[in-house]
Amino acid sequence: MPDGMNVDYDGLIPNNVGLAEDARVKKALETWHPGYIDWWKDMGPEGFQEALVYLRTAVSVDPKGWARFDYVKMPEYKWGILLAPKVENRLIGFGQHKGEPAWQEIPGEYRGMLRRLMVIQGDTEPASVEQQRHLGKTAPSLYDLRNLFQVNVEEGRHLWAMVYLLQKYLGKDGREEAEELLNRRSGNADSPRMLGAFNEATPDWVSFFMFTFFTDRDGKMQLEALAQSGFDPLSRTCRFMLTEEAHHMFVGETGVQRIIERTCEAMKAAGISDPTDVERIRALGVVDLPTLQRKMNLHFSLTLDLFGNEVSTNAANAYNAGMKGRYREDKIEDDHRLLDATYPVLRCIDGQIAQEAVPALSALNMRLRDDYVQDCQGGVNRWNKAIEKAGIQFRLTLPHVAFNRRIGEFSRLHADPEGRVIDAATFAANHDRWLPNADDNLYITGLMKPVDAAGAYAGWIAAPKVGIDNKPGHFEYVKIWN
Ligand SMILES: [Fe+2]
Ligand SMILES: [Fe+2]
Repeated sequence: MPDGMNVDYDGLIPNNVGLAEDARVKKALETWHPGYIDWWKDMGPEGFQEALVYLRTAVSVDPKGWARFDYVKMPEYKWGILLAPKVENRLIGFGQHKGEPAWQEIPGEYRGMLRRLMVIQGDTEPASVEQQRHLGKTAPSLYDLRNLFQVNVEEGRHLWAMVYLLQKYLGKDGREEAEELLNRRSGNADSPRMLGAFNEATPDWVSFFMFTFFTDRDGKMQLEALAQSGFDPLSRTCRFMLTEEAHHMFVGETGVQRIIERTCEAMKAAGISDPTDVERIRALGVVDLPTLQRKMNLHFSLTLDLFGNEVSTNAANAYNAGMKGRYREDKIEDDHRLLDATYPVLRCIDGQIAQEAVPALSALNMRLRDDYVQDCQGGVNRWNKAIEKAGIQFRLTLPHVAFNRRIGEFSRLHADPEGRVIDAATFAANHDRWLPNADDNLYITGLMKPVDAAGAYAGWIAAPKVGIDNKPGHFEYVKIWN
């Protein structure tokens, strides 16, 4: 049942793409599989390969009921190939092929472009697993430990998703790329992952929650844009990945929210009303809000770099080709060709930040980034509600898009978090006020002590309001010693 809702679990590789009838791709994937397992054991969660983890596994791609929860040893997780159901008679929704039937194979002239898009997406998936592999040792609870591992196995599955497309649709080139995806390593000097933010360390759990909030959300935006693709298998793959991605962002948003709640609660209990009274707040063993703001500044600016150059011919070509659309392309009301349209772009002009109307086709990275910033702002507003509710006078704010950038227009200037252009010396002098400093890192590292009793939480984070799969508070989400 190739396009069905149900997943075939009979073979080595669970799938809903009829792999049993596709000997060539089945063999390619089975050949790739041992290398993947080696990679997982080598670079996946360190010290927990034998633990029993209460994980959800997809048993269907029906949005209403695809998950089954059970205890699983991670190396035995059912990674598989899952595509959202096929939409009959789907048409290409944008670009120069708009209105033509969606492609079921890759048109020859677009092989190179699609290969690049899929490899870049695919590379981020194992990268984040590598970045997070040491975090299990300092988890603030079994609930959080389980969430970390859920994110990790799903990122592993996302790698499978891209590898399937590469092997099925790009033949030998695809098989070579699939091998390379297992060879690069996050942060490795000789063979790093492809994108900057995916070579940064995720040294502690505050970083982990910020990463899942900010950087997984970039993943969501890229997947949303690829879900619009005229190459139908890519669209269906990304649509199913998005259902998993939602949980990753939930982990990030609620993680930060729970830190905020705990901090505010401890401040109130101690009679501290000044959020900048850092010394007294840290004496309580919680994360002060100014430090949280600096962590935010770092992860937000690193993630903005993932959107690439504001003005980009690659983005225009991918759109024209019908390969990568805009966020919610199918909900936008315009001609979906953008040949005459313009889009306002913030640029660096004569060392100043200025808005310029740019041909909309060239500004697609910028537009996706604008949609991303708006999406982030929603979460930040909810965090601020929690601070406000606790009666603490403090607001978390997203820094200006020009702040601390390495890629694009603003890599050529220095700006403060409000977006004022400053010189290098001023930036350096304020670095420790705007970005996590040695003191912050030392303090946070000191907080990272594992809590592995069921139902218990580290003192710097509040318990969640509801359990995973509606489990009660004392539920043992991970059986570490089984
Ligand atoms: Fe992912
Ligand atoms: Fe993710």
